[in-house]
Amino acid sequence: ALIVRHRMRSAARWAKAMEIVRELEEKCATPTAKLRQVADAMTVEMHAGLASEEGSMLKMLISYVDNLPTGDEHGLFYALDLGGTNFRVLRVQLGRKEGRVVKQEFTEVSIPPKLMVATSEELFDFIAAELAKFVATEENDFQLTPGRQRELGFTFSFPVMQTSISSGTLIRWTKGFSIDDAVGQDVVAELTKAMEKNGLDMRVAALVFLIIVTAMWTEITMSMQVNDTIGTLAGGRYFNNDVSAAVILGTGTNAAYVERAHAIPKWQGLLPSSGEMVINMEWGNFRSSHLPVTEYDQALDVESLNVGEQIFEKIISGMYLGDIVRRVLCKMAVEATFFGDNVPPKLQVPFILRTPEMSAMHHDTSPDLKVVGDKLKGILGIHYTSLKTRKVVVELCDIVATRGARLAAAGIFGILKKIGKDSVKEGEKKKTVISMDGGLFEHYTAFSQCLESTLKELVGEEVAETIIVEHANDGSGIGAALLAASHSQHLGTD
Ligand code: GLC
Repeated sequence: ALIVRHRMRSAARWAKAMEIVRELEEKCATPTAKLRQVADAMTVEMHAGLASEEGSMLKMLISYVDNLPTGDEHGLFYALDLGGTNFRVLRVQLGRKEGRVVKQEFTEVSIPPKLMVATSEELFDFIAAELAKFVATEENDFQLTPGRQRELGFTFSFPVMQTSISSGTLIRWTKGFSIDDAVGQDVVAELTKAMEKNGLDMRVAALVFLIIVTAMWTEITMSMQVNDTIGTLAGGRYFNNDVSAAVILGTGTNAAYVERAHAIPKWQGLLPSSGEMVINMEWGNFRSSHLPVTEYDQALDVESLNVGEQIFEKIISGMYLGDIVRRVLCKMAVEATFFGDNVPPKLQVPFILRTPEMSAMHHDTSPDLKVVGDKLKGILGIHYTSLKTRKVVVELCDIVATRGARLAAAGIFGILKKIGKDSVKEGEKKKTVISMDGGLFEHYTAFSQCLESTLKELVGEEVAETIIVEHANDGSGIGAALLAASHSQHLGTD
């Protein structure tokens, strides 16, 4: 009788766990009709944001980039790329004849987490110091065009209200950064200050080394400041003339695209001669009653550093997907004793389950789901799981990733509608290329595949033939260097 009762109890636990999974699945559902509503809402908000800054949750920021690289840029350029948990410094030698990117080098440094919530001075000092170190390693196979300076394009992947092509104030932080004194400040001025100061600091630190550094130092000028989406658009366009939008799916998510200047009512300045302007949408802050939001998303938002903001981003991007899965598992552990009588303590630690780990579990093809077992053990301290349990974990990853990927596709469809590329004009064969970048897109294959197939589903067969989703490898870094070149005062394109 005892065994029978035990079985019943475990059957009841299982039933409860399955109830939680089914409910999640239902709440995360993204049928095509819903995605169309999301895309339409996106288009409406795009119009509103272009009409006025206050008009919409989409800032639709004017980038002051009215010309994209042509392929003629040449010379030596530096770029600094700050946008997530890592930042990179790169130098690139651009040539016209030699096959465009002649040579490039970069270094990648992870931002110490305490600097993400410290003061702007500490953050920018750290960055400037890393930049100085990197500049000092330049060897003479990189060639500065005589009479030119080293120029730096700065990719700063947060919402910035630009006042010119090389200045702008930070509107708010996203992606786990929270440095109050930087909000409302000119990010380029902050970086320049730190660069100047750093030259001095270095002088104190090591004299001999320093002479080299400062000599170069004074020669560096900052000529560009862009968002990663704009860098990716520029990097994509350099290699492919048909690129007209860029989407980042990484720690955060966002999109930029080329808009007709006269379709931007809030634009007060002269119309650029190209007739075009690149817009940084900041779509991460999109929100709509059509979005499938669950109790887990609500809890994640309430506990976040930016409550009520970046709702689209919190459902889609790499910083959050793993944590959504963790939250579901936690509820299953508490309410259905899914991992035994005790709730595994680590399961209650926010952000302990990262998206790369979730992706590894989701892609586990071993018959006994060994990767899932190992991750549950290694990350969450859950030692013994049945195959049946591990299968459920994979299913959760699938539900959460699928929702994110399908919504990202709906966002892209919204852009295509806005720029009139959601239908094929008579006799027009021109392709529309979307440059994509970011770790989530690059490494989470199930996610990117789902995104691409959903986009096809939304645009329909005929249009699908004209739309190309392309991975812009390291678009944002190279893109900033390219824009530094094409907007250089010394004209990298003479
Ligand atoms: C966040 C930032 C945005 C950036 C995106 C991708 O949404 O606010 O500026 O483009 O992340 O990195």
